[in-house]
Amino acid sequence: MTAHTTRFPDGFLWGASTAAHQNEGNNTLSDFWALEHLKGSSFTEISGDTVDFYHRWKEDVDLLVSLGLNAFRFSIEWARIEPSRGVFSAAALAHYRAIIEYCLARGVEPVVTLHHFSSPLWFAKAGGWGSAEAVDRFADYVTAVAPILDGVTWVATINEPNMFAVMYQMSLVLQASDPEAVIAQMAAGQDVVSGEAGINAFSMPEPEEAAAQTMLRAHARAREILHATTTAKVGWTVAVQSLVARAGHEEELPRYQRVWEDAYLEASRDDDWVGVQAYTSQLVGPNGLEGAPEGAELTQTGWAYRPDALGIALRRAWEVTGGTPMMVTENGIATDDDRRRIDYTTGALRGVAETLEDGLDVRGYLHWTFVDNFEWVHAYQMTFGLVAVDRTTFERMPKPSAFWLGEVARTNGESLDITA
Ligand code: BGC
Repeated sequence: MTAHTTRFPDGFLWGASTAAHQNEGNNTLSDFWALEHLKGSSFTEISGDTVDFYHRWKEDVDLLVSLGLNAFRFSIEWARIEPSRGVFSAAALAHYRAIIEYCLARGVEPVVTLHHFSSPLWFAKAGGWGSAEAVDRFADYVTAVAPILDGVTWVATINEPNMFAVMYQMSLVLQASDPEAVIAQMAAGQDVVSGEAGINAFSMPEPEEAAAQTMLRAHARAREILHATTTAKVGWTVAVQSLVARAGHEEELPRYQRVWEDAYLEASRDDDWVGVQAYTSQLVGPNGLEGAPEGAELTQTGWAYRPDALGIALRRAWEVTGGTPMMVTENGIATDDDRRRIDYTTGALRGVAETLEDGLDVRGYLHWTFVDNFEWVHAYQMTFGLVAVDRTTFERMPKPSAFWLGEVARTNGESLDITA
């Protein structure tokens, strides 16, 4: 092992990622808000105010800049732009335009996601991503948003379509006349949603094929609209699972890679870029995907501590897309030990550096996440943030990892103590 300094290319983006429903607060017209409020749902808490990003976005961009970071990923909330079908809010469009303009004015590269898991409640009730109209409805929304994207280079249409094709099943309960009765039936083990035995709305079945196909079509349509009306580079962000075969079970691996990621990465062959998101690595053995191995160090989410997952994911995405430019749009760790966050991120960045040395085209690293936020069903118990927050005063308190990543950004990676 020799210590050496890694050169990240000039213009490499260093930043943090967020998502509207997880940060803004009071996203009351969305399907997730409705799900959180159902009796018996798996959400440990409602999102509520989250970290009040809807009002404190300027403060967050200023903090990001003061730390030394130069890129910020956030998402536009469809339910705010189109609160009821066909009715578009000029005020909401102006709100997001102001964030974009402020980022550009402060020298921060905005990376804008158009759909990060949550959809308008009216859309979910009308069949959501399972409906024949989903692609047209998403296209209406993208058409409405396109004019505010002027000056934005990096646009992601849909966040983690592969994970979303799993989660989307949760929103099916919203189509029932009595969603809480459906949840109670599910809790009792009855098969009410998918037609497959044993599936519960809050467990993790495989991605649902019909919803996946809808999202693939919606992505292609959005790309067409954005290419025709903006100068943005268009892609989407994929949860690359960093799957590895258990020794002796190499033949099982391709099936799981196919189900979980290939179709989504193959779609990125026609894109300008692809967002790669990785947190941990999983083994594939005789019984399929395996949980964290016995004795492994676990993060708050119960995932194995695997900083090397990012390098594995970047190589896999590069191979399947055939060389689409990549950006790390999410990578991080849920922990209350901030020292461990720095260790993890150092290891992950070592993986990025090695892929760059091998000639892979990686344009930036956006850490998940900026401020501790609403971690979906786990609510506020899991802390992925570089910045802590007081959830009553909303005061932001940068952790040592925030200053550390800012220094890495300011020195374009030179301050990293990477050995390879
Ligand atoms: C999602 C984020 C989430 C993160 C950590 C990703 O799957 O895009 O919304 O908070 O992982 O679980």
